[in-house]
Amino acid sequence: MYLLCTILAALFSFLVLKWMKRRNYCMDVKRLDGKTVLITGGNSGIGKETAVALALRGARVILACRDEDRARKAVREIKARSHNLNVLHMEVDLANMKSIREFSKTFLQKEKRLDILINNAGVPSVLNWTDDNFSMCFGVNHLGHFLLTNLLLPRLKESSPSRVITLTCSNYKYQRLDFQDLNYNLFPFFTYCRSKLANIYFTQELARMMEGKGVMAYAVHPGYVQSNWTCHYSFLFQLLMKVIMFMFYVSCEAGAQTVVHCAVADEVITNNGGYFCDCKPAKLQAFANDAGVAKKLWEASERLVKLA
Ligand SMILES: NC(=O)c1ccc[n+]([C@@H]2O[C@H](COP(=O)([O-])OP(=O)(O)OC[C@H]3O[C@@H](n4cnc5c(N)ncnc54)[C@H](OP(=O)(O)O)[C@@H]3O)[C@@H](O)[C@H]2O)c1
Repeated sequence: MYLLCTILAALFSFLVLKWMKRRNYCMDVKRLDGKTVLITGGNSGIGKETAVALALRGARVILACRDEDRARKAVREIKARSHNLNVLHMEVDLANMKSIREFSKTFLQKEKRLDILINNAGVPSVLNWTDDNFSMCFGVNHLGHFLLTNLLLPRLKESSPSRVITLTCSNYKYQRLDFQDLNYNLFPFFTYCRSKLANIYFTQELARMMEGKGVMAYAVHPGYVQSNWTCHYSFLFQLLMKVIMFMFYVSCEAGAQTVVHCAVADEVITNNGGYFCDCKPAKLQAFANDAGVAKKLWEASERLVKLA
């Protein structure tokens, strides 16, 4: 009797976990032959699976990565899995504004198209500083992608209709931006939440500014995904998270689905500037839907990266 109860409890827990981890898959089968996709941080986790999915559809896929060896390895794997040899990498460190400017210059010289830009790279809750003295989360997750997108906008406009997809996180809701201290770097988790909130405002303002110019913008929460983000932490934490992620988090392939959906599906066109989760538009908390704050952040970011 005791054994039977244990087996039933285990079976029940397994089914509940499976139900909790269920995810929609992108059902749009559109091909991307002749299109160019740029994915930041495409050598790992969600970015790599997105790269495989888009390479399978025939796109030219460029990974923008900071580490040459990891990038080469990922390119080999993506080519092998997609049977698409039109996959390459270019070097960029999003924690360094000079590196982003050099990367963009080279990209604009070499690449004649940019149909889909995926701002995927990201650092989790850490308290370091970038080379330009921005807090690591705000600097890489928001400012790095802000500068990159702005520098590549001419090519995105020329290739219109084009799309910019930025990875955010549903944890955005736990924080607000403090315009007196955008570089807030006190509690690691809060710095991460703020950077992901900034990704949402960035998407809204980009969509507004590009209205009628053929560049659309989407913010995506990929779900909680078993990727490599724990590599920034201690061995013990990694071990603990491995167990938790195995139980509750979805695979990187599942995590990439909403990104792929926003990259290819026609139905997202009516939701320009929107926030997506599980392959459908999702509702934002009211404070995160604020055009005034989005514009203010855009202008502050322009000053910080010396764009204006
Ligand atoms: N995993 C989740 O549960 C989850 C949930 C919500 C949102 N997200 C978001 O999804 C995105 C992808 O994360 P992931 O889970 O796939 O994590 P991941 O496996 O750690 O991948 C992150 C990628 O970002 C790159 N990166 C980090 N700092 C960089 C820099 N300074 N310059 C260039 N590239 C840099 C990493 O490169 P290296 O390999 O060289 O470190 C790596 O390729 C992130 O924006 C994250 O915030 C993830």
